Amino acid sequence: MGLKRQSCLLAILAVVVHMAGGAAVEAVELPIAYSVSNNALNTKGGIDFQNQIGEWYAKRTMSKATVFSWRAFNQLSYPGSKKIVPSIWLVVESMSEDYNGYAAYINGSIVHINANYLGQYNGDLKREFTGLVYNQVASILQWTGNGEAPAWLTTGMADYVRMKAGYEAVGWVGAGEGESLGRGFDVAAHFLGYCNKLKRGFVGELNYKMRNGYTVGYFVDLLGKNVDQLWSEYKATYAKRA
Ligand SMILES: *[C@@H]1O[C@H](CO)[C@@H](O)[C@H](O)[C@H]1NC(C)=O
Repeated sequence: MGLKRQSCLLAILAVVVHMAGGAAVEAVELPIAYSVSNNALNTKGGIDFQNQIGEWYAKRTMSKATVFSWRAFNQLSYPGSKKIVPSIWLVVESMSEDYNGYAAYINGSIVHINANYLGQYNGDLKREFTGLVYNQVASILQWTGNGEAPAWLTTGMADYVRMKAGYEAVGWVGAGEGESLGRGFDVAAHFLGYCNKLKRGFVGELNYKMRNGYTVGYFVDLLGKNVDQLWSEYKATYAKRA
């Protein structure tokens, strides 16, 4: 793709002290190098990125999203389960028409952000960008069962992190909504939030189990019910409230 790395790598070693019960219990080191390239300065979206978001904010958001993802996946409680990548590189680029409608995607640990999406976005661009970064960083740091986990689940887990961080995208369905779990994304994120209420730490434990493979039996192992049963009960719970 001929992407030019315009910024030098910035290794951020952030120490985040997290308080629990008044006592500092853990220090999180971030041995990940974050870098940002804006390859779309000839487009409205690239200029909007430069003026309204900027490289510094993007890097800071990537490091915050890293710690948040590890925590959402409970990876700090099981240090061996923490997924670490040497670097995360965010590239703002004008994607071809094949990617119309795509806001972003990851390839390895490179986050590709579609400048055309940013340029056409109506609303709070910085907030939307922040949500995208949480989603994409979570996608990099989640386990996928060696690629065996279904897309509804992996997209749902990444959007669960985005949702927990408070950056839901405009237009997402609400809790209990959605026709089918197969849609993944927001629908699955809310469903996983429900499962996590049934069993605290569920999403983290599921992610932990997905280090090396995936089977549908993981839901039964953790919650005593299969996905279809859980989905029906989830829908019934919200139908009653409506
Ligand atoms: C993803 O990365 C690989 C390896 O660097 C490259 O060959 C491939 O073209 C990339 N795919 C996309 C869609 O960017």
